[in-house]
Amino acid sequence: MTDFKKTITETAGLIEDALDEFLPTQDGPLGRVVNAMRWGALDGGKRLRPFLVIAAADMFDAPRARSVRVGSAVEMIHCYSLIHDDLPAMDDSDLRRGRASVHKKFDDATAILAGDALLTQAFEILAEEDTHPDGNVRCALALELARASGKAGMVGGQMIDIYAEQKEFDLAGVTQLQRLKTGALIRFGAVGGGIVGEGTDDEVAALSAYAEDLGLAFQIVDDILDETQDAETLGKPAGQDAEMDKATFIKLLGMDGAKSKAAELVESCKAHLDRFGDKAEPLKGAADFVFERKN
Ligand code: IPE
Ligand code: IPE
Ligand code: MG
Ligand code: MG
Ligand code: MG
Repeated sequence: MTDFKKTITETAGLIEDALDEFLPTQDGPLGRVVNAMRWGALDGGKRLRPFLVIAAADMFDAPRARSVRVGSAVEMIHCYSLIHDDLPAMDDSDLRRGRASVHKKFDDATAILAGDALLTQAFEILAEEDTHPDGNVRCALALELARASGKAGMVGGQMIDIYAEQKEFDLAGVTQLQRLKTGALIRFGAVGGGIVGEGTDDEVAALSAYAEDLGLAFQIVDDILDETQDAETLGKPAGQDAEMDKATFIKLLGMDGAKSKAAELVESCKAHLDRFGDKAEPLKGAADFVFERKN
């Protein structure tokens, strides 16, 4: 196993345990929403965003107890975004992470509520003192995550993504769509790690520049995999983007053009980490992983 694979397996285990603890099962009517949250958040996924939080925070020797909380918060937002993305009103996907999507396992109303509850719990976790003793740090984390998640981030990107189904987009338009839809939460991963690790403004800016390129590369690869892999490998439906006429880099640049663009971004993102020396190896490894992944 490569060092990168070892580290992401280890951090994914920490996140799995933390999410399990944040979402204890419950009896009675409330239990249903908790079970749906658990179905959408536990036991699956690459856990890339929390990996970025933990790997960035490790560079500043931040206690893992803190970075795991920040990583859990961004993973909750990510899982909520997937639950809602799969709803019939959005991508109408029945399969996620190799099993039934939340609205299929439960129902639409429960899936909406489970997503809402994951979204709000993410901020509850950031606001709690265990995340960082300094209230200013907790506030900075909440501000960044709110911006990454809302209308100027993931939600805004999802809106353009749906609108793009009926409208022609140029390269600048698709880039903006991808940066918001996917890039913003990935950027939070690295930046959130820098903030909880109390990096300087310059250091956090370098992490941000790294993750912006990485996030764009990540979505280009997601679009390539949608067209080249089958549902079994992906754990989610394949070929949906072409079917729904989504605005993607492949549509604009062709498959080879999209691949070269992703490869370029993976190389350029690493250059932003040079100032951190060897400590940045795990984050550089994440860039290669994003390019080489098969699901
Ligand atoms: C899928 O994200 C949705 C996109 C933003 C493209 P991931 O590929 O990170 O999904 P999981 O968490 O590993 O399932
Ligand atoms: C959705 O992008 C990204 C989110 C904000 C959830 P996609 O619709 O391409 O994600 P997948 O392919 O369903 O995972
Ligand atoms: Mg979508
Ligand atoms: Mg989708
Ligand atoms: Mg996709």
